Amino acid sequence: MSNRLPVDRVVDDSGEASWRQSPGGLVTALEPVMRASGGAWVGWVGQPDLEIEPFDENGIRIIPVPLSDSDLELYYEGFSNDTLWPLYHDVIAQPGYHRVWWERYAVVNRRFAEAAAAVSEPGATVWVQDYQLQLVPAMLRELRPDLLIGFFNHIPFPAYGIFSQLPWRTQIIEGLLGADVVGFQRVADAGNFSRAVRRLRGYPTRTPYIEVPGMGDQPARRVIAKAFPISIDVAGFEELAARPEVQERARQIRHDLGDPATVMLGVDRLDYTKGITHRLKAYGELLAEGRLSVEDVTLVQIATPSRERVESYRQLRDEIELTVGRINGDYGTISHQAISYLHHGFPREEMAAMYLAADVLLVTALRDGMNLVAKEYVAARADEDGVLILSEFTGASDELRAALLINPHDIDGVKDAIVRAIEMPRHDRRKRMRSLRKRVAENDVSHWSNSFLTTLRESRGTQTPFGGG
Ligand code: ADP
Ligand code: G6P
Repeated sequence: MSNRLPVDRVVDDSGEASWRQSPGGLVTALEPVMRASGGAWVGWVGQPDLEIEPFDENGIRIIPVPLSDSDLELYYEGFSNDTLWPLYHDVIAQPGYHRVWWERYAVVNRRFAEAAAAVSEPGATVWVQDYQLQLVPAMLRELRPDLLIGFFNHIPFPAYGIFSQLPWRTQIIEGLLGADVVGFQRVADAGNFSRAVRRLRGYPTRTPYIEVPGMGDQPARRVIAKAFPISIDVAGFEELAARPEVQERARQIRHDLGDPATVMLGVDRLDYTKGITHRLKAYGELLAEGRLSVEDVTLVQIATPSRERVESYRQLRDEIELTVGRINGDYGTISHQAISYLHHGFPREEMAAMYLAADVLLVTALRDGMNLVAKEYVAARADEDGVLILSEFTGASDELRAALLINPHDIDGVKDAIVRAIEMPRHDRRKRMRSLRKRVAENDVSHWSNSFLTTLRESRGTQTPFGGG
């Protein structure tokens, strides 16, 4: 179960409704896992006030949970995306702490827990996804103690000094501890969670175990908190990128851009965690200083619409569009644009073609749980070409050490990395891309889900007292 289903219901101008793939890394990763599993996916259909019966979509049973307009405002835009999101991404933006948001978060989490409890067979496995549903594990355990409950956090889990700002920090910890296994992207995230448990509840921990004492009629339990770095369907993406029509489309994209010597690409939801403004600043300065010229280099920036009713997202969009306009106005020519800016979604084939067309992929996130765009780029490049510039503040940087690693706050460092990527000799590009491809191939999304679910199944056998083995 996740807040967002793999498909969103969209209604066009003529009032015609259809389904389209939802944005974001969670859906990218879980969609192939769920198609192979035969399970049901419990979540929201992407539009307010829609009561839809369960249905089948592309081999997945969909169980819709309705959200009203005010649920969206208080639970989704408010507590999930204006409290937890900025807090968990190291307070890049100021989180809002509002009691009405929190109260609705708890109400909606209960609705999700009840929906899952109603459709789960005895002893079933329920895998709860992400920060929007952190109270669900404990609620579900209360309703259905027979279930095996996993939780995976797709975004970072912050250090205690930051997490402790949250007025409802203890309730969140208790909610998560309802799971048998709590999974995180990085070892550091799992460590931050265990530390928060010790500080707030005083429960004994010994990595990866947390001992939750018995309370009332609830027996003592052992919870596992551990890192499971997420990935993509590597073979599926490779197959897509190998299609002749996708390769032809990549050539067409380069041609339409004026066949510049270097095409750079950024692909992000329009989110302040992604460091898009830092990237534009670095690129703009390189053009201003004459270290790059629009005759030779073009940046394609895809900024997918996201959370458009949240004020910080609106402000960011204005800032990005102003900056793109300025850079294009200052440095563009009739035949060469500095930045080709695209604010909409694309089919997966088109994304694969973009990756193939790009000599350099820029990932400059200020904080990111994983960043699957980096892994998709690597998976697409069977030609062992292309340079990945990757922020060290992404989960992906733990694995993708052969990228050009950057600190996005260091604008001079980003500029140097861009120039280095553009000038990198072919044999160096090949060496790095080979190494990156090896890492991505070793840990694809089925490896991720199998290792989480195996740990979850085996957790039933580890309910021995602390120190008992
Ligand atoms: P996040 O989960 O924060 O959005 P990720 O990089 O982990 O970031 O995942 C983003 C996913 O969304 C990737 O699978 C990427 O291909 C996809 N995506 C991003 N922008 C678009 C777009 N404009 N059209 C289609 N898919 C997109
Ligand atoms: C990230 C989050 C997901 C979320 C996605 C898209 O990947 O980890 O939980 O679904 O962004 O955001 P949205 O708010 O549109 O669901």
